[in-house]
Amino acid sequence: LAVAGRSGSLSGRRVVVTAGGTREPLDPVRFLGNRSSGRQGVELARAARDRGAEVVLVAAHLEVPAPAGVDLVRVETAADLQEAVIAASHRADLVVMAAAVADYRPAEVSEQKIKKRSADDGLVLELVQNPDVLAGLVSSRSPDDPSVIVGFAAETAPDRDALLALAREKLARKRCDFIVANRVGWDEVFGRETTEVVLLSRAGDIVVESSGTKASVADAIIDALAGSLPRPSL
Ligand code: CTP
Ligand code: CA
Repeated sequence: LAVAGRSGSLSGRRVVVTAGGTREPLDPVRFLGNRSSGRQGVELARAARDRGAEVVLVAAHLEVPAPAGVDLVRVETAADLQEAVIAASHRADLVVMAAAVADYRPAEVSEQKIKKRSADDGLVLELVQNPDVLAGLVSSRSPDDPSVIVGFAAETAPDRDALLALAREKLARKRCDFIVANRVGWDEVFGRETTEVVLLSRAGDIVVESSGTKASVADAIIDALAGSLPRPSL
């Protein structure tokens, strides 16, 4: 038995969104981080909530307030984020990976604050790779699991064609259902109110192009994704 919901509505749906930037500790007072503000992910969570979804927001470091009315799970590192996403995505209809997840972490975390050496000495940090949370979610999804998994591709591409080429490569590598391509740079996008994105389907086709405030872009992305969900069966 299938229930036809209002078109675009997410009532009765479970949505997981990750947002913000992970932080990988070096010692008790320092970390390796990134410039993600979390704004886009927060707006996606808000947009899903506004459409009636039950939302879990897995939040790494945020520079903007989390929305009300979502189930907020705070995380620090990529490993924490992976654990939280795996737990939250159980029975989820839609998972959107907007967080900037650290690709590498320090090979060792010092228990004590790392002390400065003598004047001319540099410091070499050894890093190891973090698990790819998105690729892991996709590869562990069982064939009868109807959930839709969406990645982001933040790229420092010179133009739109280069951006789309990089995003399509990433889509092929990660095997997720959709990817949101957006251009990033030193002063583009991060922390800003506005952005420009292209949503690509699994086949690499353009589903939606949207630019404007991160709130309006989130609305456009969530509307397109809501429309793509298979009808729930009872
Ligand atoms: N991602 C993830 N786990 C990681 C790294 C990234 O789940 N360890 C997710 C991000 O949340 C995003 C997508 O993968 O949805 C693409 O992230 P991105 O950094 O653009 O891709 P990478 O595969 O890490 O490639 P690169 O950084 O080299 O461009
Ligand atoms: Ca990366």
